[in-house]
Amino acid sequence: MVLAIYRKYRPAIFDDLLGQDLIARVLKESGRQNRFAHAYLFAGPRGTGKTTTARLIAKIANCEKRYSDESFKTKGEPCNKCRSCNEIDEGRSLDVIEIDAASNRGIDEIRDLKESVRLTPAFSRHKVFIIDEAHMLTKEAFNALLKTLEEPPDYIIFILATTEIEKVPATIISRTQQFFFKRVPLEIISGKISSIAVKENIKISHEAIDLIASSAEGSFRDAESLLDQLVSLGGKNISLENVETTVGKIGFDKLSVFADALLKDDLTTTLQLLSRISDSGYNLVQFTKDLLQYLRRVAVLKFNPDMKNMFHRELIKEHLSKIVVHSAIFNDKHIVLIKNLISAYSEMRYSQFPIIPLEVAVIESLK
Ligand SMILES: Nc1ncnc2c1ncn2[C@@H]1O[C@H](COP(=O)(O)OP(=O)(O)OP(=O)(O)O)[C@@H](O)[C@H]1O
Ligand SMILES: [Mg+2]
Ligand SMILES: [Zn+2]
Repeated sequence: MVLAIYRKYRPAIFDDLLGQDLIARVLKESGRQNRFAHAYLFAGPRGTGKTTTARLIAKIANCEKRYSDESFKTKGEPCNKCRSCNEIDEGRSLDVIEIDAASNRGIDEIRDLKESVRLTPAFSRHKVFIIDEAHMLTKEAFNALLKTLEEPPDYIIFILATTEIEKVPATIISRTQQFFFKRVPLEIISGKISSIAVKENIKISHEAIDLIASSAEGSFRDAESLLDQLVSLGGKNISLENVETTVGKIGFDKLSVFADALLKDDLTTTLQLLSRISDSGYNLVQFTKDLLQYLRRVAVLKFNPDMKNMFHRELIKEHLSKIVVHSAIFNDKHIVLIKNLISAYSEMRYSQFPIIPLEVAVIESLK
């Protein structure tokens, strides 16, 4: 069964675009006023809504219902029902041209594009060019694009999307209206995964959802693809263990129990847990990395409790409060522990027996 969750749940209106409130608000207002820039630049991390938003602009700029119904227009959203909206959703609109700059990098492609810019739209008010991975264009291609970006015909809207804005020439950037997409807080990603699970009748615990969201590191697409992969692997009952095996990471609770023993200097329990984790087949190198990340947060909060506001983006509330509790028992001895774990981590990666450097580091620090 192929769900292709990330296609099915791609936001169809600006209100469904999560974690990018300012962008959604500004673009809805442009829709209400029918005032679109001739060129946009969308920059930000992968899977945060750049392509989605580009298509939303294409839809709202061309939505037939908005032009026939003034009261609908005040919503500042596309209707998702008219011919134009449908064609764009199905990727067959003649007036919305998506170009993947990763595979069409050169001057010839830009020349073709310029030809096409000159032709008026086939059926719509606006002809929209979405240039994805724009940073991949060659220098010559950027130069060729420059003049067109400056003075395109009125019916043209250019949207450049990129994950690496530092590779886009300043001359291009200054000719566009820029929007910066944010990495999305874990809680918001968990929330969307959880509502997809309900709609798709997928049985999955909160702990498992949070692990999916935290492995996705701020990308909705990664989280949704992972959910998809889990369903195709094992059906609609997804256990925490399924997720742990698939992402090769251990759930937060197990990590926290381990850190608890460590920070309470309980060597016996620590060694027991370690051998259990190893026997269960978890990747110990990844485990050590996650543990270091955990302890780093504990240490930082010990010395700067205000950093809580930063971690709030990367962790859900219950997890953050466990880290806060641990920061209260963190002491100088644990700084040595972190140092030892860092050395163990670099040794483990090349070792045939990764558990040994880890055990030695723990024993040396807690004995
Ligand atoms: N802000 C968001 N709110 C809700 N869902 C989102 C959001 N951003 C992305 N998604 C989900 O992730 C999928 C991929 O998003 P999209 O293609 O827009 O990402 P992108 O920013 O263009 O990523 P890339 O840089 O990798 O091209 C969407 O189909 C949607 O399901
Ligand atoms: Mg994209
Ligand atoms: Zn429409």
